[in-house]
Amino acid sequence: MNLIGQPLDRVDGLLKVTGEARYAAEFPEARLAHAVLVTSTIARGTIASIDAGRAQAVPGVLLVMTYQNAPRLPNGGMPALAPPAGRRLSLLQDNQVHYSNEPVAVVVADTLEHAADAARQLRIVYQGSTATVDFAQARSNAHAPDRPQGRQTDTQRGSFEDGMQSGTVHVNATYTTPIEHHNPMEPHATMAHWDGPQLTLHDSTQGVSGAAQVVARTFGMSASNVRVIAPFIGGGFGCKGSSWSHVPLCAMAAKQTGRPVRLVLERPQMFGPVGARPRTEQHLTIAARRDGTLTAMRHDSLSNTSMIEDWTETCCMVTRMLYAVPNQVTTHRLVPLNLGTPTYMRAPGETTGSFALESAMDELAAALKMDPLALRIKNYAETDPQENKPWSGKSLRECYQIGAEKFGWSRRSGAPRSMRDGGTLIGMGMATATYPANRSEAAAIARILPDGTALVASGTQDLGTGTYTVMTQVAADALGFAPENIHFALGDSTLPRAPVSGGSQSAASVSPAVREAASQARNQLIALALADPASPVHGSALDDITVENGWVVSRSQPGKRDPAAAIIARSGGKPIEATSTVKPGDEKQKYSFHSFGAVFVEVHVDAELGTIRVPRVVAVYDVGRVLNEKTARSQMMGGIVWGVGAALQEESSLDTRYGRFTNANLAEYHVPVNADIGSLDITFIDRPDPYINSLGVRGIGEIGITGVPAAIANAVYHATGVRVRDLPLTLDKVMAGMQG
Ligand code: MOS
Repeated sequence: MNLIGQPLDRVDGLLKVTGEARYAAEFPEARLAHAVLVTSTIARGTIASIDAGRAQAVPGVLLVMTYQNAPRLPNGGMPALAPPAGRRLSLLQDNQVHYSNEPVAVVVADTLEHAADAARQLRIVYQGSTATVDFAQARSNAHAPDRPQGRQTDTQRGSFEDGMQSGTVHVNATYTTPIEHHNPMEPHATMAHWDGPQLTLHDSTQGVSGAAQVVARTFGMSASNVRVIAPFIGGGFGCKGSSWSHVPLCAMAAKQTGRPVRLVLERPQMFGPVGARPRTEQHLTIAARRDGTLTAMRHDSLSNTSMIEDWTETCCMVTRMLYAVPNQVTTHRLVPLNLGTPTYMRAPGETTGSFALESAMDELAAALKMDPLALRIKNYAETDPQENKPWSGKSLRECYQIGAEKFGWSRRSGAPRSMRDGGTLIGMGMATATYPANRSEAAAIARILPDGTALVASGTQDLGTGTYTVMTQVAADALGFAPENIHFALGDSTLPRAPVSGGSQSAASVSPAVREAASQARNQLIALALADPASPVHGSALDDITVENGWVVSRSQPGKRDPAAAIIARSGGKPIEATSTVKPGDEKQKYSFHSFGAVFVEVHVDAELGTIRVPRVVAVYDVGRVLNEKTARSQMMGGIVWGVGAALQEESSLDTRYGRFTNANLAEYHVPVNADIGSLDITFIDRPDPYINSLGVRGIGEIGITGVPAAIANAVYHATGVRVRDLPLTLDKVMAGMQG
């Protein structure tokens, strides 16, 4: 495996920087009509009346679609697939309003300007009723979700009460995290084109086959009549893992107008109808002996959902598996609010859960007067403590050791507020990162073409993560071709099926399928050459043969060599083709699959102003084999940067009077800029996972954000002696603590 792991430049990089890469809203269409989504201005109630007269009168307007004239859908537009595969959408089937910013109309015109103008002329009168939007007031109505995203709602092992008795040092604290909204640079966008019964969608989606299935089921169509295309995606992060209301609405508008229709969400419309990270309130109780041995742990997590669907931020997943604590209880409860349904957002549950757990562990270390890293090593889980299974591979101890050394953890003084440089308080903090290593069935096709190049394809997606590049490497390596002679295709539901690019599973699922299809094509190429009396390699032994740079070559007599194009030409000129479907076996029954990492952070806090800077982060990860050192590093950098934002800046600010977000734009929704980020020192252990798949590859899309918020909060505590348990960790909270 010569190419695997190499820091190959992105194969789609040139297309992207030259603007040649086409995103969903950029495909040319003759007779294209433009749609604008209209969303509700109240959080709960009904639409009392609609006056579309002035909107209809705007020049170029083709359609004003509301619940009064929208086509009636089978089953009232309710999902044929259970959530979260099929979300509860708002498809203009009735006059009910469940949250502010819920889709209530679609206006279509010949130009975007005409559509936008008409949308603003639409007069909708609402009959409002009292909405529930205040988490603190509604929390007493919490209910237990039913197996959230297939996971156990609650868990229990050992005896929590006994464990509490055996511990002499206790932590008892509540951690809160805010609602956050995904804001990929490319907003949600869909373009729908009907050709008789055949519907083609260009959609910015993390799952082309899932989107096709949702749309087909929503309309009661055959799945073979829906094709979804997404060659490039300008970021997803979970919000594009589900097909939301605008996707079927765009197809409905195209059907009604008889024209191709494009619908792009406006930036403020990213804050409501397309998912969010919900608010969480997490209570942690921990007991330990004086030597740091954990004896009991309890993690109770509350998060908000909507009034129309249960979606749970599974904060306790990390707590169940990370430490060797014998007695444990975890629970998830949901608080329904008149808000849009929350959804997967980069490491959903692990980001928020690791903030609470790893903050609480730091608080325990402080109470024990023990080094926080030593506390974690003391309670290192040699096997999965909840599932009672061996890990498929766990090099977390090495992550801790290498990270501590690179960071200079030994220079950290024990007491808080004891490191200082003039007016700057210096803090050092750490936390553990972790994310499950998921994998699903995937298929791929490899075709060696008469010109000696290869087309390799799978119906997977590239969210900007590097799928094109790493799959090109895997295919080139398995075929024995140069990467520049591989064309890798993805993002089309008519290609061999691959899973949604969510749950960090694409690399782990698709790479073994690509490898298998490419290996089969390579074997066919070799067999053709060996069987052909006209081939220079004819008569060689099979085990003497290899494929190098597209040539079939004798290892013992390298002068005997035959290029793929010549082999195909002599055998009749037909491409060589192999398709492969690979699926997980029973390894999940035997092993527990997780990735791990250790994050070390230095913060500088202004002693008078409380401003927090993060000059450096050192992180070390065990993510199995790394397919491409450069794209993998970018993934971790992106995750860590987001972790810094989640720790210090990010928050959707909810006006509880109206159920609307007051910072629904990129100016007031704060995320880090370059000036906010210092040095990011990232190391991979790069040890193949022996059980996950034929390449030893685990996914890396999400682990990078985990642990970072806690490491920063822990470093701020070390710098200042102030423990902030409420994200984002802004200077007012630090100052209040320093004064108090
Ligand atoms: Mo990820 S939040 O499962 O796209």
